Amino acid sequence: MEIQKVGVVGAGVMGSGIAQAFAVAGYDVIMADIKEEFVAKGLATVQKSLDRMAARDKITAADKDAALARIRTTTTLDPFADRDLMVEAVLEEEELKRTLFRELDVICRGDAILATNTSSISVTKIAAASRRPERVVGMHFFNPVPVMKLVEIIRALQTSDEVCATIDEVSRAIGKTPHTIKDSYGFVVNRVLILMINEAINCLYEGLTEPEEIDAVMRLGANHPMGPLALADLIGLDVVLNIMGTLYDGFDDPKYRPSPLLKQMVDAGYLGRKTGRGFHKYGDA
Ligand code: CAA
Repeated sequence: MEIQKVGVVGAGVMGSGIAQAFAVAGYDVIMADIKEEFVAKGLATVQKSLDRMAARDKITAADKDAALARIRTTTTLDPFADRDLMVEAVLEEEELKRTLFRELDVICRGDAILATNTSSISVTKIAAASRRPERVVGMHFFNPVPVMKLVEIIRALQTSDEVCATIDEVSRAIGKTPHTIKDSYGFVVNRVLILMINEAINCLYEGLTEPEEIDAVMRLGANHPMGPLALADLIGLDVVLNIMGTLYDGFDDPKYRPSPLLKQMVDAGYLGRKTGRGFHKYGDA
């Protein structure tokens, strides 16, 4: 199946990054969110990222304008009726995603592929909410989407070979490197990465040293581009906690117990970069 028209539901950090990746590669994109202000913020994020790429000669000014012009926005799902591929990037709530997939099932063409960018929820469960489970697949991008090369293609129990092959092809067409993985809580990257971040938070909780030090030793000792606490701030502490919760409940294994400090930070509303404060401070916060 050839993909030309793409729909993205959710205009947050991930949704806007995904819309940008497709638009830069020449695809016709419609990006949706529930409020006009959210889609406007998503478009502004795309604009800023493209400006940054243009300033570093990664894209010409003309290609930047053309990419922006390829993204239309909407606050309803109706315009998705003609899409070949839908990528869902809404909040990490199972019922929200399952309800959305039921709605997309009705609106989208019968042969359209419905992909989810979930970071840890069972794609098999999301697929089961749809009447086309064999055309549901995980298409997991990484933050910041314009920079990160990987797409984890998550093959649900129901996903067809043809759908996995199409997603592999389209991921390469937008300049990403896809790897196909069987569905399981957290897939591979988040199962490994988020557990490491949780352990770094436990080191802080136990008072081993300061946040800056924990980040510094992991940059110097493991050659990570950024330390685990700074990465948690980038991902969002609510998202990190959510993924730990999915791993803990899904595997029913205490090794995935969220750090008490992570829970406290989320309770305090210290969610990382997006709130100006997490394990580090950002902007004027
Ligand atoms: N849009 C466009 N370009 C961007 C960008 C954006 N949003 N953010 C960074 N860049 C570009 C910069 O322009 C820069 O380009 P040049 O190489 O041409 O100079 C390059 O990326 C590097 O950026 P910086 O120089 O600003 O900073 P850096 O070298 O410290 O890199 C980083 C920043 C890319 C974020 C790097 O620190 C990194 O790779 N960190 C780890 C990120 C990571 O692990 N992400 C996965 C999170 S897990 C996830 O997303 C999954 C999930 O489900 C939770």
